[in-house]
Amino acid sequence: MNLNRRQFLGAASAAAFPFIFPAYAGLSVRKYAANEKVNVGVIGIGRISTTMDIPLAIKFTNLCRFTAVCDLDSKRLKHGVDFIQKQYRKLKKEAKAPVKAFADYHDLLDDPSIDAVEICLPDHWHALVACAALAKGKHIWLQKPFAQTITEGRIIANLAKIQNRVVQVGSWQRSVTQFHRVCELALNGRVGDIVRVEVGCGCDKPGGSSAVQPVPENLNYEMWLGPTDEKAPYNETRVHAQDLKKIANRPGWIQMAPYGWGMITNWGAHQIDIAQWGLGKDDSGPESVTGTCEWMDTTGGKLWNVHTTYDLHYSYNGGKTDVHVCNKYPMGIKFIGKNGDWLYCMRGKAVTPSDPSSSTGGKMKPLMASKVSLLEPMVNPSKPLKTSKDHWKNWLEAIRAGDPTMTATNAEAAQRSSTACCLGQMCMELGRGKKDGATIKWSAQKEDTCCDKARALMKPFARGKYNLTDELARYGFSPEKILRG
Ligand SMILES: NC(=O)c1ccc[n+]([C@@H]2O[C@H](COP(=O)([O-])OP(=O)(O)OC[C@H]3O[C@@H](n4cnc5c(N)ncnc54)[C@H](O)[C@@H]3O)[C@@H](O)[C@H]2O)c1
Repeated sequence: MNLNRRQFLGAASAAAFPFIFPAYAGLSVRKYAANEKVNVGVIGIGRISTTMDIPLAIKFTNLCRFTAVCDLDSKRLKHGVDFIQKQYRKLKKEAKAPVKAFADYHDLLDDPSIDAVEICLPDHWHALVACAALAKGKHIWLQKPFAQTITEGRIIANLAKIQNRVVQVGSWQRSVTQFHRVCELALNGRVGDIVRVEVGCGCDKPGGSSAVQPVPENLNYEMWLGPTDEKAPYNETRVHAQDLKKIANRPGWIQMAPYGWGMITNWGAHQIDIAQWGLGKDDSGPESVTGTCEWMDTTGGKLWNVHTTYDLHYSYNGGKTDVHVCNKYPMGIKFIGKNGDWLYCMRGKAVTPSDPSSSTGGKMKPLMASKVSLLEPMVNPSKPLKTSKDHWKNWLEAIRAGDPTMTATNAEAAQRSSTACCLGQMCMELGRGKKDGATIKWSAQKEDTCCDKARALMKPFARGKYNLTDELARYGFSPEKILRG
């Protein structure tokens, strides 16, 4: 069945349905024996899997074993096998079995020896592969942003719950000391009621090339396009670098809709995620978003097309809290209380009140407050936040413990943060060409809006065989049933 985005689910939204799941029996989850390892497969051998997701997990040799890779670019697929073997050599441990290579993720998922998969794919592929993996009963590491549309995310989150599988999302700041500290302090009232949160996500620059190039023989470009327009002409700057020496470079698609939405979802999945965590919104979200942005200049044969500057206000807590997401702020999150006291966190080596030196060299230190005493840790906070010192280890430990609630960035929390990011992107899109931008009213409880134009943007991507209905049918599921319960 071929459904496009607009046809999917008709005008219905995800949240018109209660999140209960009588329709599927689901799976049981098991604990691992003390000496048993999690067999991990990696789907997507690109910048992030080779710089983060493989090296930062494979080193836990007592917890896991990397046994398989998948990529639709055969050059990268071979590189994935070599890369894993090299990692094991560096760790002075030989892989116990050869690393299996798959060009199609379905074949990797059909391998019963694989317990868990790292999904390190461009954003337009997240939903299809995450759903297939969960439907097959695999635990998943899913790179951020959780999903490309709100309904895609709801289907993944519901399916994870139905299948009782461990999900860790790549919003790894939740496993870093200063983000945890500031969020726990903000949530437990250290600066009183939070009236304003300032969020900086950086800014993309125009670039890429619209010149048409021949598709490299090693790349399955038709599949790479997946649920997006098949007519998009190939240029390397739309996809990823062909030179393996450049595999760690930022791929072009990350600045190119509809494969990525730009900084609002790219860094928003880190920064807005932290704002939501500190506001205690892991099971809800904003009531509205309003604002404007500027779009990339695509003249002169430039290809990339996402937003550049942005100025968005999210309303939370009945209008008492304004989350201001704006490119003018440094790349961090500042929680401001009603008497003007504030708490701030950004990346960089964590600093503490007793050791307040900065490693970033910038104006803001990774951990700061209007008064240094405000940073003292909470003693027995009434709302403690989940603690994890290492995002990758936390995922493996949750799998081994058979406990989907253990992960620092679980599916439900990630869906809620991803929704806030998507709402920002939808607001920008609806405001295109309008001086004052747009406003979207949002019911976090129903995960719905009354604006039909916004609703249309919530639907899953689909093209030909690349659609969630067929993907899930392959494993005996239906997206409508997953949404309805
Ligand atoms: N957590 C973080 O800090 C962080 C930072 C940046 C990006 N990311 C996210 O990581 C993910 C991967 O980004 P990247 O920069 O590594 O991208 P990339 O383009 O470098 O790598 C993606 C790889 O996936 C492969 N691929 C695409 N579709 C496929 C499919 N259907 N089946 C198999 N292989 C397929 C591509 O051939 C490519 O090799 C993205 O979701 C991105 O947003 C996370």
